[in-house]
Formats: sequence, structure tokens, C-alpha cells
Amino acid sequence: MADLRTALCGIELKNPVIAASGTFGYGSEFASQAALDRIGAIVVKGLSREPIRGNASPRVTETAAGMLNAIGLQNVGVKAFVAEKLPLLGQFGVPVFANVFGYGLADYVEVLSVLEDAEGVAAYELNVSCPNTKRGGLEFGAHAGELSRAVEAARAVAKRRPLLVKLSPNVTDISEMARAAVEAGADGLSLINTLRGLAVDAHSRTPVLSTGSGGLSGPAIKPVALHMVHQVSQSVDVPIIGIGGIATAEDIVEFLLCGATAVQVGTASFWDPARVADLPAELDSYLDADGTAKAAELTGGLRPPAGAA
Ligand SMILES: Cc1cc2nc3c(=O)[nH]c(=O)nc-3n(C[C@H](O)[C@H](O)[C@H](O)COP(=O)(O)O)c2cc1C
Repeated sequence: MADLRTALCGIELKNPVIAASGTFGYGSEFASQAALDRIGAIVVKGLSREPIRGNASPRVTETAAGMLNAIGLQNVGVKAFVAEKLPLLGQFGVPVFANVFGYGLADYVEVLSVLEDAEGVAAYELNVSCPNTKRGGLEFGAHAGELSRAVEAARAVAKRRPLLVKLSPNVTDISEMARAAVEAGADGLSLINTLRGLAVDAHSRTPVLSTGSGGLSGPAIKPVALHMVHQVSQSVDVPIIGIGGIATAEDIVEFLLCGATAVQVGTASFWDPARVADLPAELDSYLDADGTAKAAELTGGLRPPAGAA
């Protein structure tokens, strides 16, 4: 048996496989279909100050090797999460990461303040792929200055737990954003969030989703995610969680080699709700067959291309 344990910003994980935000509900809904206690950690749906109903249907559509969504960050709100969802998840003994978003700095601060008073949360993950409505709708994660301000504001409140910042891939230079987030106080980085995309219905000549564009995820984005994880790992010195199209043990190994300490599994849960819980055992078998004793040894082990000088 390979040693799958990993340490992420001081949190001991039994394995590096984490359920990604927005694709695994509040965790407990999946208990009848997946062995939750086998998962390294669970990131819950993005939490906001007030409950959000989300966008009108259609808000999800399948694409070639992927999926486009415009759920609209539907969630019960942070207070109901703490009162009703967090206690249910607590029984599975899996570290819970709270994903936080807002439409202004005050939103991030307030959600984190509520979480700071709650027990049963292991880390915060800041979703910065949302528009700052107080600054003309500019995405926090698309501009280094906005990103710094959001992370600094969050850091000032997030005292009890590690602060992970989840980077948007919809930028020209992801390394610049990574450095801005780390300089502003991020303990670790998660990447990538969804890529902006558009699905068109040629018959009706309209966008498929009610919102027009949406976020692309799934195997289609894996090469982009691997490249960005690799770039960021060369630019900053904090743990990285790799995300994007992961569905197999080999996918996980690829992300670890590119510099990730752990990974998150998102869209795969839509076609197989047990995928994320099954992956640690599959990773174990893969590493055994490969003669790798410890998963953590793989981090950053990517070699130069064959034939490179
Ligand atoms: C339906 C759906 C909802 C999502 N909701 C959130 C969210 O609330 N917060 C967040 O940070 N990321 C959210 N994401 C992004 C995922 O956590 C993940 O970063 C992205 O889907 C890429 O990983 P994947 O290719 O494994 O799905 C969502 C993705 C999907 C498909």
C-alpha cells in the first residue's frame, strides 16, 4: 500500500483527493452514493452572506469532453450552512473547507466572520471568480489590484484557519495573480476555476444557457489546468491544489507532477457521484503498480520533455 497522506497548510489529509466546490453540494447529500470517509477533504458549495436562488434554467449543458454551467452560485447562505449543513457533514470525519464568495469586500468579510465563530471548518477557500458589483462588475480574480484587496480583507478576518485562494483561469498571466494573492496573505492556492465559454444552439440561433455564457469544466480543461498549475508552482512557494478535469488516478499523478500538493475533483461527480470517493483506492493501486511509495514524493517531479537539451 502506498502512503497517500499529505499535509496542506498544516492540515493533515489522509489522501490528496478533495471534492471540489459546487459539484458535491454540502457533502452529506452524497452519503448514500459515496463513502465520504474515504475522501481527503470536502469543499462545500460557495457560501454567501444571504441565500441565493441562482439563475433560471437552462443553466447546465454538456459540451465536447466537458460541461458549461451558469448555476449562479445558488446556496443557502452562510448562517443556514453553519446551523443546518455543517453539523450533518461533521459525522463523516472529513476535513471541511468552506468556499466563500461575495460581490463586494464587505460580503467576504461578513461570511468569514460568521465562519470564524463556527466549529468544524478546517480551511477557507476564497472564490474570486465573481464580479465586484461595487467596482463596475470587474471580476476580483481578473485584476491583480482587486485580487490583493479581496485577499487582504479576507486575511484580516480569517485568523483561525488557513486561507486558500481559488484562482480564475480567465486572465492573461496566472502567475501574476498567484503572486498577488500570496503577497496579500494567501496560505495556499487552488486552481483552476471554470473557463469562460459559450454554447450556441444553431437551430434556434440563441445561446443554450439562460445567461448567455457560462463556465467550462471537465476533461476539456485539463491541459489548461495542468499548464497553469505548473506555471504557478514555478512562481510562488505555497501549496497548490490542482483542479480541472480530474477523473482518474493518472490525472491526479499528472497534477502532482506539475507541482500540486493535492487535487480537487469536480465535474466527474456529475457522471459518477462515487468517483471522488473511489479515487484514493485507485491512486493507491496506481502507485503500487508504479513502484511509488509516497504520493507526496511526486509533487513537482515533472521532468523536461524527452529529447530536450
Ligand atoms: C456546477 C458547478 C458549480 C460550481 N460552483 C462553484 C462554486 O460555488 N465555487 C467555486 O469556487 N467553484 C465552483 N465551481 C468550479 C469547480 O469547483 C471547479 O473549479 C471546476 O469545475 C473545474 O474542475 P472540474 O473540471 O473537475 O469540474 C463549480 C463548477 C461546476 C461545474
